[in-house]
Amino acid sequence: MDRIKSGIAGLDEIIGGIPAGRTVLLTGEPGCGKTILGLQFAKSCCDQGKRTVYITSEEDAADLKFQAKGFGWDLDALEEKGILSIIELTGKRVESIDRANKMATAVRTGNFSNILEHAPDETQVLVFDSLGTYAAKVDQYQFKDQLDLLVYMLKELDVTALIILDAATSRNFQDSAEYSVYGALRLVKRDNPYTGERERAMDIVKMRGTKTPIKLLTYEIGENGIALIGGQSS
Ligand SMILES: Nc1ncnc2c1ncn2[C@@H]1O[C@H](COP(=O)(O)OP(=O)(O)OP(=O)(O)O)[C@@H](O)[C@H]1O
Ligand SMILES: [Mg+2]
Repeated sequence: MDRIKSGIAGLDEIIGGIPAGRTVLLTGEPGCGKTILGLQFAKSCCDQGKRTVYITSEEDAADLKFQAKGFGWDLDALEEKGILSIIELTGKRVESIDRANKMATAVRTGNFSNILEHAPDETQVLVFDSLGTYAAKVDQYQFKDQLDLLVYMLKELDVTALIILDAATSRNFQDSAEYSVYGALRLVKRDNPYTGERERAMDIVKMRGTKTPIKLLTYEIGENGIALIGGQSS
């Protein structure tokens, strides 16, 4: 299976990259770094020559670009190159952009599998940040149904996807989203049982077709974005 480098220092050595043409779900509490990871992955995909679409339903593009710039990732340059497309589903500008408007309507009505119909042609990588914004409005059965359909369609179209979902919404649906996808990552903050220090850690809940560690992987948000520290931790 082809794999795409996640761009997360230390992670690709462990899982060999993100399986191409499959969907990975990323969940976590507020501020744990989901958006940073999403941007880092998008940047990495662009660097690997993949046409990448970043759909943002919470923050506007200007804030994302500012955040990215802090890590040395120039999203404007990637957009100008035509390899990256940021689609905002929030704010006033949405109504004036047909594509964004149609996508926003699809997700607002709970039909989020329809977003693909409106994605740019030849999209190879899709980051959706985040599904939680709209999922709260649909019931558990529609949520699961739509997510299953979206994952199916992404695979049919050979699109590699990272879907971000906040931990609260994920729990609301009994974490059922994690069953629907090929891979699932959770970002957590925890007290290290040995040092007593707070630390950030990634849980690779699953990655089908891949040997994965059971241990939590501690990470830092540093000047180059998210990086695993010292490989695996206990
Ligand atoms: N340069 C940096 N160095 C260290 N930590 C940073 C840096 N930039 C941001 N952070 C931390 O990362 C957090 C933001 O990460 P991010 O926006 O990716 O979180 P998130 O999981 O997407 O949150 P939300 O659920 O609110 O969308 C900030 O609140 C801050 O604590
Ligand atoms: Mg975020």
